[in-house]
Amino acid sequence: MTDHVMDAAFRPAGLDRATQGVLGRGIDRVEGPAKVTGVADYAYEGTPERVAYAAIVGTPVGSGRILSIDARAAEAMPGVIAVLHGDPRMPAGESNSSALPLFDTDVILHLGQPVAVVVAEDQAIARDAAALVRVETEAGEDRFDVEAQPVDTDPAIGFVPPVDMGDLDAAMRDAAVTLDATYTTPVHFPAALEPHATTAWWDGDRLTVRSSNQVIGAARKTIAKVLKIDADKVRVLAPYVGGGFGGKTGVGPEAILAAIAAEAVGRPVKIALPRRQTAYVVHHRSHTTQRIRIAADERGVIQGMGHESVAAQNDDAPFLEPVPFGTIPLYRGESRRFRTDLVRVDLPASGAVRAPGEAVGTFGVECAMDELAVQLGIDPIELRRRNEPDCDPGSGKPFSTRRMLDCYTQGAERFGWPAAVPAPASVREGGWLIGIGMAASLRGNFTVQAQARVRLEADGRAAVECDMTDIGTGTYTILAQAAGEMLGLPVADVDVRLGDTDFPPTAGSGGSFGAGSAVSAVVLACEDILAELALRMNAAPEELSLKDGCVSAGGRQVKLADLLRGAPIVAMGKTGPGKESKRTSQASHGAHFVEVAVNAVSGEVRVRRMLGVFDVGRVLNRKTATSQIIGGMAWGIAYALTEEGVVDTRTGAFVNPDFGEYHVAVNADIPQLEAYFIEEIDDSANPAGAKGVGELGISGAGAAVANAIYNATGVRVRDFPVTLDKLL
Ligand code: MOS
Repeated sequence: MTDHVMDAAFRPAGLDRATQGVLGRGIDRVEGPAKVTGVADYAYEGTPERVAYAAIVGTPVGSGRILSIDARAAEAMPGVIAVLHGDPRMPAGESNSSALPLFDTDVILHLGQPVAVVVAEDQAIARDAAALVRVETEAGEDRFDVEAQPVDTDPAIGFVPPVDMGDLDAAMRDAAVTLDATYTTPVHFPAALEPHATTAWWDGDRLTVRSSNQVIGAARKTIAKVLKIDADKVRVLAPYVGGGFGGKTGVGPEAILAAIAAEAVGRPVKIALPRRQTAYVVHHRSHTTQRIRIAADERGVIQGMGHESVAAQNDDAPFLEPVPFGTIPLYRGESRRFRTDLVRVDLPASGAVRAPGEAVGTFGVECAMDELAVQLGIDPIELRRRNEPDCDPGSGKPFSTRRMLDCYTQGAERFGWPAAVPAPASVREGGWLIGIGMAASLRGNFTVQAQARVRLEADGRAAVECDMTDIGTGTYTILAQAAGEMLGLPVADVDVRLGDTDFPPTAGSGGSFGAGSAVSAVVLACEDILAELALRMNAAPEELSLKDGCVSAGGRQVKLADLLRGAPIVAMGKTGPGKESKRTSQASHGAHFVEVAVNAVSGEVRVRRMLGVFDVGRVLNRKTATSQIIGGMAWGIAYALTEEGVVDTRTGAFVNPDFGEYHVAVNADIPQLEAYFIEEIDDSANPAGAKGVGELGISGAGAAVANAIYNATGVRVRDFPVTLDKLL
C-alpha cells in the first residue's frame, strides 16, 4: 500500500486515458433507493436498546447573568431520568464555527443559550420537563439592535484580510462616473430539512456519536477536546445527512450534550433540536451592511472599487461573514478597498451558511454593477465584459481557468438577451410589469486534504472508503463513478462507504471543496491499483485498458476476478493543496439570467424563468452538479424575495424561527430553472480537474432577480429581501 502525496498539478494518467464514460455522466444517485425506501439511517433513527431522550434548556433572557437553576419540578416529573447542568466541560470557542453551550460560565451571550439538559424516557417528556426548568437571571446591558452598536474597524476575527490598494478616495474624486450605494441583507437561517440531531452511546471508555454533521473528522477532534478524552476513543458516524448548508460544519451543542448525558445516565441518548430552537442553538448568517463604491471612466472601465461591509457576531464565536470575498477577483480596477468590520451583538452565533461571503456579497456588488450600467446607458453584460480582468486583480496571480466571458455569451444566447435592454418599467403584459436582469457568479475554489482507500476485491468488485459525508450532494455517486471510470467497472460494482471516522480522513463537505478533493483521492488510489494490475499483467501501466470488468494489455484480455484471485488489491490515495493552488487564482464562475413579472397593483413578484451558465472545471456527474446549481438558484430567489430572519430588538429573540414564518422558497415560487456547464478540466485545481459547484449557484442568483425587478418596475431596492411593500 503506497501513500501518494501528490501536487495538485499532477494529472493522473489513468484519468487522462479514461474512456468508460462513467465519470461525468448524469447517472441517478446510487443511494437513492435506500433513501426512498427508508433503509438509509439518519442520525436520529435506529433505537439502541435502553435509549433515553434529551431536550436542551435555553436561557430565558438574552443578556446578563445566570443566578441559579432550579430543576426540582422537572426532576419530579414522571419519566424524567436526570437534569444536568453546571457541567464544566463546556468551554467557549471549542467549536469549528458555531457556538457551543457555556455550562461553565454564568455569562449570558444570547437568548436560548443552552444551560441545562433534561434526560427522559421519551422525547415528549424530555421537552415538557425542559419547560419546567427555572433559570433565575440578573438583567444586564443588552446589544440586540445591530444598527445601534458601534463598528469595530479592527476585528480580530474572520479570515479575509482587508484589501487596500491604490487610493479609492482619489479615484472617486477624479472619476468621470461614480457610484456610491449601500445595500443591506438580513439574518439568514441555514434551514436544513433534517433536524440537527445526535444519538450517542458509550462502550466502556469509547464513545460513538451518530450525528447529522458535514465534517466528521473535525467533529471527532472537537468532541474529544471538549470531553477531554483521546480522539481515538471517539467515533463519529454520519452515513446520511439531510442537508447541511453550513449549519452542520461545526459540532452542535446537541452532539456534546448527548455524549455527556449518555455518560451521566449510563444509557444511549438521543437529541433532536426542535425547529424553533434550531435558530438559537445553530449559527445563522449575519445581517450585513455593504457600501459599494465604483469609480469608472466614461466607457465604464473601472478604476476603483470599494466593497466595505459590516457583519455581526456575539462575544464568543470566532467567525465573521467574509462579505467581499468573491468581489476581490471579480473585476478590474487599480484602487481597491475590500473589508468587513464587526458589530458585537448579544445574539446567537453567526457562522458559515452556504457560500459564506459570496451568497450575500454579490447582492451588493452585482446590484451596484447594474446601477452603474443604467447610469452609463450601456448593457450590463457589456459593462462586465469591459471589466473582465486578465489576472487576479488583487494578487496579480494568473487564473487557473476562467471562462466568465463565455458564461456571459452563452447565457445571453440561451436566454435570448435582447440587443437593447428595455427601459425600466416599459414592458407591460396586462396587469404585470415585465423585466429582465443578470448577474455574475463567482465562488473561490479550494482543494483540501483528503484520503481515500480503494479495494479491488477478489470477486472483481471495488470498495471505496473515506470519512466524507454526502449531505444530499451526490458524494456516494461521484466516488463510485470515479472508481468505476478508473477501474473499468460499472457503478453497480463499486461500493462506497462514507460517514465513518474509522475510514481515511477527509475535510468533509464544506466550502465546495468536498467533491474535487475526495474524487482526487479516489483517483490517486486507483492509479496505484492500476500499477499493481500492470505488474500482474507483465505490462506497463499505460498499456492497460480496463473495461466491463476485464483488463487488456498487449493483445491479452483477462477478467479482473481471474487476475485478482485470492489477492485483492488495496491502495490509499491522498491529495491536498499543492504548489499550483498557490501559484494560481482559482474560482468557479458563472452568470445568471432572470425574467420577472411584478404585479403593477400589489407589487407581487413572480420569477418567470431563470437560467445560468457555469464554469466548474470537470463535471463529475451532470445530474448531481445540476441539482447543486439549481438548488442554489432557488435559494437565491428566496434570498431576493422572502428569506429574512427578524430580530426583536427588545428581547434578542428571533420573531420567525420556523418554516411557518421564515419563508424559504417553495415549488410555487420557483419556475423552470436551467443550468448549463462550460466544461474545461482545470489541471491546477486538483488531480480530478474539478472546481467547486455546491456554492456557485447561489452566488449572484439573488442579485440577478433584484436587477430584473428594477428593470420591470424602475424601483431600486437596496434593502433585501425585496418584499412587495418596498416596491409600492
Ligand atoms: Mo459550507 S457554508 O462551507 O457548508
